[in-house]
Amino acid sequence: MQLSMKTIVITGGNTGLGYECAKTLAQTEKNAHIVLACRNTKKGEEAAFAMKKETGHTNITAMELDLSSLESVRTFAKKFSTSPLPPLYALVCNAGVQFVDKAHVSKDGFEETFAVNHLGHFLLINLLVDKMVDHGRIVFVSSGTHDPLKKSGMPEPVYEDAMLLAYSSKEVAAKDVSFTGRRLYTTSKLCNIYCTYELADRINLLTNKQITVNAFDPGLMPETGLARSWSPFLRFVSRYILGMLILVHPQVNTTAKSGRRLAALVTSPQFEDSTGKYYEGVKEIPSSVMSYNLVNRKNLWNVSVELTKLKASESILLTD
Ligand SMILES: NC(=O)c1ccc[n+]([C@@H]2O[C@H](COP(=O)([O-])OP(=O)(O)OC[C@H]3O[C@@H](n4cnc5c(N)ncnc54)[C@H](OP(=O)(O)O)[C@@H]3O)[C@@H](O)[C@H]2O)c1
Repeated sequence: MQLSMKTIVITGGNTGLGYECAKTLAQTEKNAHIVLACRNTKKGEEAAFAMKKETGHTNITAMELDLSSLESVRTFAKKFSTSPLPPLYALVCNAGVQFVDKAHVSKDGFEETFAVNHLGHFLLINLLVDKMVDHGRIVFVSSGTHDPLKKSGMPEPVYEDAMLLAYSSKEVAAKDVSFTGRRLYTTSKLCNIYCTYELADRINLLTNKQITVNAFDPGLMPETGLARSWSPFLRFVSRYILGMLILVHPQVNTTAKSGRRLAALVTSPQFEDSTGKYYEGVKEIPSSVMSYNLVNRKNLWNVSVELTKLKASESILLTD
């Protein structure tokens, strides 16, 4: 392994946007070791095998990470820290779920959309940030659906207190599951932005590391598996009818195109000094009005520390 080698971890790198981003990085970053952090080891290894074949890049490893289990996140961080992999350059927080069929509960008893899309990533970053090299990058995959002004057709986020989100499964089950599930999704994508802004500030204020943190909206990608809990009819409409919009709508993209844009945020010199920003593709734009609410942002951070039982000895981003 050359000294200049660096590691890039992509959560949910076995399929969809994560796979396409990882593939671009494997094609363009010859000194990068790509880690596909996947909940299903078999799928992860199959994806690593396929990616090596497609790109000719051999430094690709699949590692087990189930973001719906805080124990799995801690195990991943420990294994990663003790592995002989090159220094950690980037964390791409890409894995995500959206449920419209029923209430889903994580291994720790939290509502699963909140647990996977936000809480697992929150813990992962806190445990690994001190392993990151200077000029490293963290990128959250958020979504334009967090912003009601974008008129995405999704329910607008509702944020009162992260504790309510963490324990909202009963509420989901009791109400219109499809609506509530999609609202939890857009709210989780708002949480990604709160977390981006808070992390960027904390890294600047509490550490002397030069690590950037940004959020990314890939646009609508009808080809991915995100709609897997939808009915077969709606999946068909999403994939093939909405899919036709790729040809005419600037915010409807192929997964490959969004993957290339996400990879650019991870490595392009263009974004070297950018931190605490929100990108629609590779264009910096303001995030929603609600995403700048400092009270919500602090509430999300504090509740996340409490729910993950994160200790000051585990993270350089906590003050006692
Ligand atoms: N598709 C869109 O239109 C769209 C639009 C805006 C934003 N996004 C965002 O893009 C990101 C990628 O989604 P996608 O569209 O590519 O969907 P996808 O094809 O369903 O990929 C989601 C990835 O997340 C992984 N994942 C799910 N639960 C996990 C867990 N508990 N632990 C670890 N990994 C887990 C999945 O693993 P398995 O393969 O094992 O299920 C899969 O690798 C998400 O954050 C999503 O919110 C998507």
